[in-house]
Amino acid sequence: MSVITTERHDDVLVIISNNPPVNALGQAVRQGLADGIEEALGDDSVKAVVIRCDGRTFFAGADITEFGKPPQGPGLGDVLDTIEASDKPVVAAIHGTALGGGCEVALACHYRVAVPSAKLGLPEVKLGLIPGAAGTQRLPRVVGAEAALPMVVVGNPIAASKAQAIGLVDAIVGEESLAEEAVAFARAQTDKPVPRSSEGTANRDGVENPAIFDEFRAKHGRKLRGFDAPAAGIEAVKAAGEMSYEDGVKKERELFMGLMGGTQSAAMRHYFFAERAANKIEGIARDIELLPIRKVGVIGAGTMGGGISMNFLSAGIPVTILEMEQEALDRGTGVMRANYERTAKRGRMTAEQVEQAMGLLTPTLDYDDLADCDLVIEAVFENMDVKKEVFAKLDSVVKQGALLASNTSYLNVDEIATATKRPEAVLGLHFFSPANVMKLLEVVRGEKTADQVLATAMKLAKKIGKIAVVAGVCDGFIGNRMLSPRQGQANALIMEGANYWEVDEVLLDFGFPMGPFQMSDLAGLDIGWHRDPTRIESIRDALCAMDRRGQKTGAGFYDYDEARQRTPSDDVKKLIADFAEKQGVEQRDISKEEIRERLLYPMVNEGALILEEGMAQRASDIDVVWINGYGWPLYTGGPMFWADTIGLDTVVAGLEKHKERLGENFRLSQLLKDKAEKGERFN
Ligand code: 3HC
Ligand code: NAI
Repeated sequence: MSVITTERHDDVLVIISNNPPVNALGQAVRQGLADGIEEALGDDSVKAVVIRCDGRTFFAGADITEFGKPPQGPGLGDVLDTIEASDKPVVAAIHGTALGGGCEVALACHYRVAVPSAKLGLPEVKLGLIPGAAGTQRLPRVVGAEAALPMVVVGNPIAASKAQAIGLVDAIVGEESLAEEAVAFARAQTDKPVPRSSEGTANRDGVENPAIFDEFRAKHGRKLRGFDAPAAGIEAVKAAGEMSYEDGVKKERELFMGLMGGTQSAAMRHYFFAERAANKIEGIARDIELLPIRKVGVIGAGTMGGGISMNFLSAGIPVTILEMEQEALDRGTGVMRANYERTAKRGRMTAEQVEQAMGLLTPTLDYDDLADCDLVIEAVFENMDVKKEVFAKLDSVVKQGALLASNTSYLNVDEIATATKRPEAVLGLHFFSPANVMKLLEVVRGEKTADQVLATAMKLAKKIGKIAVVAGVCDGFIGNRMLSPRQGQANALIMEGANYWEVDEVLLDFGFPMGPFQMSDLAGLDIGWHRDPTRIESIRDALCAMDRRGQKTGAGFYDYDEARQRTPSDDVKKLIADFAEKQGVEQRDISKEEIRERLLYPMVNEGALILEEGMAQRASDIDVVWINGYGWPLYTGGPMFWADTIGLDTVVAGLEKHKERLGENFRLSQLLKDKAEKGERFN
């Protein structure tokens, strides 16, 4: 059956798209739309047109799988011009998400009606692009430059009600009666001059007050640092006010094509598919029966236990949280409440929602209260004996069929499972701190973890808004395991004479939000410190002994002023030099290039080892982990995609060049070596 069909409702022609799963605007859809409009224009008895979609959503955008391939006509821009040029009114009937090219279809129509749950947006920026079918030119002419800017430059979709408030949607209709109401709406517009978005004048606001562009840039500068597409988006929206529509479209095209050919968009499109691939588990049928998770238990109400619980409470799933002592329990639940209240204060939650979430929480000191949980997550101290004791207790009280998970960062999940008589029910659920905020979840598949248990955990992760990646049992799983060589090199580099602030700068320049020494200062240098100022075995010991324990004491590696601005410290530089001398490490000048290579290439190598050992399912999963858990810049596509981009032979050559300095445990991955030799990529 054709992806586009038409249907007559007396004098209204309805053009219907049915291109699952998301009605992406592939070649057949574009051709069908063009044919549908031609049919309407060629038939005098048609007075108005409705465009709507079957299935779960209105057009969710251009077909991303067509990007990078030779274009096949008709182009979306031409089809949209045909729609807009029609003198018979064309109405977009929107449900689900009208995104990207889909929103541009809606903009080319003369009117837009939507159901209350619909969302509209231009998320191209998240693919390293700007809209490429005149969206940057039509949207500001309809809603004004100020309202268009966040849509084009930040790319978050807006709700139908907001779209109506800014003039993007003309009418909101019943959730269940879109098809009929859109036809009635279209019929009511016949015999009126059609309003064309390209002729709108709302964008005068940007001409009268051009300061809005700089203000916008200043407001979002930090978040958009390093990305190319947002600046292009601002330029295109500005052009909409300064140029004729035709010239503006040309400008948009130029900017769009520049971005499409660049490395950032390729990386971000890779990430789009990587995130979706991560959800798929090799060897497990997609339709495997999942276990219902109606009630969750959490053990430990510390930093992680509290945050983990909040994920479920916010999703409406009741949580029973267990501690050893009342005081710790009260402290933990108090922190959770305070976190929710802070969110409410910022306007991102109502007071009622806070009470609703907290109302689903049952604090307890008694393991018997966990008996009927469908999933229990342990987040107690990082100690194997303690964890085993907890799992043995869980095994004796929690009902059969429940999932038993550990939030351990490094410990062996298979060994933890031996404390139970049901290792098939045990897995790792490694959340990242703060657990209620960070999107990443490593789902650790033990040797005996049942397929159903794993699949249930992946599905649940999606429900609580996490991006889940399957990892095997190894030291540090995917993320922390790759962090370890980077941290090792950062420490080695400063001993060898690199300035610690330059080590941080290299990572900042690369696009990380923070370098390792800034991070240590933020977390506190006294984490894990033995507290004996006379025992100095590391640079950290020396800093703590001087009471330079990080930001909280006003000094750590850096000096901090009242506003927490950091400056490098000559004293610390000297302290490191003295320490190196004592250890017999000779200091030398080290270039930023060497710093960069020694920080990043060993990570790629570790990623390759993880792959060859089967600890990650695919290279793109590693990219998803590092982008979501550790601030690896999205616009490089993640460590493995980045390595592909610069060439695996470059990485191997760099590793060989620095081999002597990469530590005695360094081992070059055979997979990486082979791929480099064959000129292959990871992705
Ligand atoms: N092109 C091709 N495939 C797409 C697609 C698109 N635009 N959007 C989604 N898909 C695919 C996904 O890859 C996935 O495939 P899979 O099942 O094989 O993994 C499937 O459709 C379902 O997608 P999700 O798992 O993401 O489904 P959700 O229901 O969670 O989300 C959605 C639906 C909100 C529409 C989400 O898919 C989405 O955000 N899509 C991308 C929207 C977008 O970026 N549009 C702009 C494209 S660029 C553009 O339009 C350029 C234009 O200006 C010229
Ligand atoms: P924490 O010290 O803040 O909290 C641990 C809590 O567990 C304490 O409140 C303690 O009273 C309680 N507890 C200890 N033994 C218990 C027992 N037998 N029964 C019930 N409660 C018990 O520790 P944090 O940071 O929350 O870490 C917990 C786990 O999460 C560790 O395994 C850690 O490796 C892991 N993790 C920590 C991350 C972090 O950034 N803090 C990130 C990811 C994982």
